[in-house]
Amino acid sequence: MVAVVGGSGSGKSTLIWLTQRFYDPVKGKVLIGGMDLKELDLKWLRSKQLW
Ligand SMILES: Nc1ncnc2c1ncn2[C@@H]1O[C@H](COP(=O)(O)OP(=O)(O)O)[C@@H](O)[C@H]1O
Ligand SMILES: [Mg+2]
Repeated sequence: MVAVVGGSGSGKSTLIWLTQRFYDPVKGKVLIGGMDLKELDLKWLRSKQLW
């Protein structure tokens, strides 16, 4: 279990949206298990209970 904790505006919602690819980063990458999320199938990614 992971707890994301922080004040309002600290980026909690943004973090979740990045992992679901509702946002893509302008710079850098989001990796899960060493894989760039952009290289994973979007439907497969969203079918996983990551959060
Ligand atoms: N695309 C973006 N470019 C710049 N700032 C952004 C962008 N998206 C969100 N923000 C800002 O990042 C901060 C984090 O927002 P948010 O993820 O909603 O925080 P929380 O859910 O923790 O309250 C806010 O100040 C928001 O305005
Ligand atoms: Mg929020």
